[in-house]
Amino acid sequence: MKDSTENLEIEFQHKIDQGYNIEPKDWMPEKYRKTHIRQISQHAHSEIVGMLPEGNWITRAPTLRRKVALLAKVQDEAGHGLYLYSATETLGISRDELIEQLHAGKAKYSSIFNYPTLTWADIGAIGWLVDGAAIINQVMLTRTSYGPYARAMVRICKEESFHQRQGYEIMLTLCNGTEVQKQMAQDALSRWWWPSLMMFGPTDAESTHTELSMKWKIKRKSNDELRQQFIDNTVPQAGILGITIPDKDLKWNEKTGHYDFGEIDWEEFWNVVKGNGPCNKQRLDARRSAYEKGAWVREAASQYAEKQRNKEFTEAN
Ligand SMILES: [Fe+2]
Ligand SMILES: [Fe+2]
Repeated sequence: MKDSTENLEIEFQHKIDQGYNIEPKDWMPEKYRKTHIRQISQHAHSEIVGMLPEGNWITRAPTLRRKVALLAKVQDEAGHGLYLYSATETLGISRDELIEQLHAGKAKYSSIFNYPTLTWADIGAIGWLVDGAAIINQVMLTRTSYGPYARAMVRICKEESFHQRQGYEIMLTLCNGTEVQKQMAQDALSRWWWPSLMMFGPTDAESTHTELSMKWKIKRKSNDELRQQFIDNTVPQAGILGITIPDKDLKWNEKTGHYDFGEIDWEEFWNVVKGNGPCNKQRLDARRSAYEKGAWVREAASQYAEKQRNKEFTEAN
């Protein structure tokens, strides 16, 4: 007879294979729990660190309409962070602990946010490319096996598609503008293209997590498949804009029905992951300072909640 853990594991895998979600109170292997804490919290950190490069442009948006849209977008990202921290908390870790890991430099977040936003066109390129890449990943995650994560993703995806469109519309306006504006759009595409491709993570051959993540349906497509899908979607969009993707090896492959593309500079990728990107330090400093400056808000909110609880208690008695 098999021991009980082994039976639980078989039952767990069976549930996943049948397409059922795993919920917080269900039995799960420790590694499944740990992998999810890592993945969902990294995702949450990426949402809130991702507010920084764009937040930087809210005061400099060129029109009122652009300002309102960007403000709404950055605020959405804060909301995504909150859903995702809550989803991580269902796995038995507190938000304080997660934030502490981020601020101590122990947690990862998407490396793309360690690049600077130099011009207004970068806001267009981020929405178009970075949110565009995020959607591809996140649509897959709406069917991930962990229930709270999958449900958070459904709502997040709806908002991401607005982000992508607002970015593309900025690019379209610039590309239909003056020569200088078109040049700004080209420059932004040239700088953001390769880091966007890196967002899908290392190649399948190099990725350490892919196999188990597939078995547990944490992921349903590999990094390379998702990257290819992004490239196939995005190349025609650049064609409409009339700007050039900075890859001389990029070309349509009749046989595979996909675009072939050039070699990604993985040295740059690992360098940024290790903390040596252009803005790694700046981002963490901004996060820590926002957290310290926000201490009085957290304190006031918990005092208010306490007061409400006491009031309800007195009224009930
Ligand atoms: Fe987001
Ligand atoms: Fe977004």
